[in-house]
Amino acid sequence: MTVEAAIPTEDQLAEAGLRLRVAGGVATITLARPERRNAMTGRTWTVLAHVGQTLPASVRIVVIKGEGPSFSSGIDLAMFGPDGVEGEPSLMGYLGAGPGGEAALEAAIAGYQEGFLWLRRPGIVSIAAVRGHAIGAGFQLALACDLRVLADDARLCMKEPALGLVPDLTGTKPLVDIVGLSRAIELCLTARSVSASEARDLRLAELVVDGADLDRAVDDLVAALLATPPEAAAATKALLQQAVGSDPAEQAARERRAQVARLTALARQGAPGASG
Ligand code: CAA
Repeated sequence: MTVEAAIPTEDQLAEAGLRLRVAGGVATITLARPERRNAMTGRTWTVLAHVGQTLPASVRIVVIKGEGPSFSSGIDLAMFGPDGVEGEPSLMGYLGAGPGGEAALEAAIAGYQEGFLWLRRPGIVSIAAVRGHAIGAGFQLALACDLRVLADDARLCMKEPALGLVPDLTGTKPLVDIVGLSRAIELCLTARSVSASEARDLRLAELVVDGADLDRAVDDLVAALLATPPEAAAATKALLQQAVGSDPAEQAARERRAQVARLTALARQGAPGASG
């Protein structure tokens, strides 16, 4: 007998600065530390990973948004201090812990990255609804999502290099995939802020709307996505992900296989026009 893991409790979510609501096939994750502009800690990301591991199979859309004026100000800067944040080790603390410290820090970062990676899986479509600042880890979280809807006051900034660091929360690949290598180098190594209108031009935003319309725009997008049959949506997302950088003949073969699988499933369901 398999025992399904439980989704994080409200207390666990609150400790991580998160809220979660699951309804009608949509999970809405809210970054909920507005007094710190939704700064995130290691716990935020490990609990996000836990959410990803335990979401009900009925969830098809994941929306991530921030409470208050900013999407997220990135990593809680106290994570770099000698004491870390309450209940969590300082990142620097790993290195002072003697032999094995570097490996332990790398393992901790791998755990944090799990909080971002699941947002790409084919069975869901993830949407970042960004108002105000998305800085550093906040920008990377928006990049981990399949789609970004921005309010017109959104500001995106890859701040890490300016702090002597690198972006390590899975953001480098989607950034380069979307804006290209040269622009990614320019954005990261100047650590400048990108406005919502520039983000649209750079294809970092699928949609830019007036701040007052952000929730409604996301709701409309969610409704349109939910109208597509789930199995076809998942198979198509997987194909599109594989298409990036793939060999044309190999990709054509994947399309054939996926279509045969779809038609077989539709024939089993007795879909109109799929007799025999
Ligand atoms: N960590 C901890 N506290 C933060 C924070 C952060 N990242 N960002 C904001 N806060 C706190 C502020 O210290 C302030 O606290 P007090 O009320 O106690 O003074 C409170 O949140 C509100 O902040 P501001 O008054 O600065 O709000 P603002 O609206 O004027 O500005 C902001 C918002 C532009 C996001 C600004 O707060 C800011 O620049 N924050 C720091 C951003 C940053 O450098 N983040 C780290 C990026 S690197 C990363 O994420 C990844 C990585 O390194 C691996």
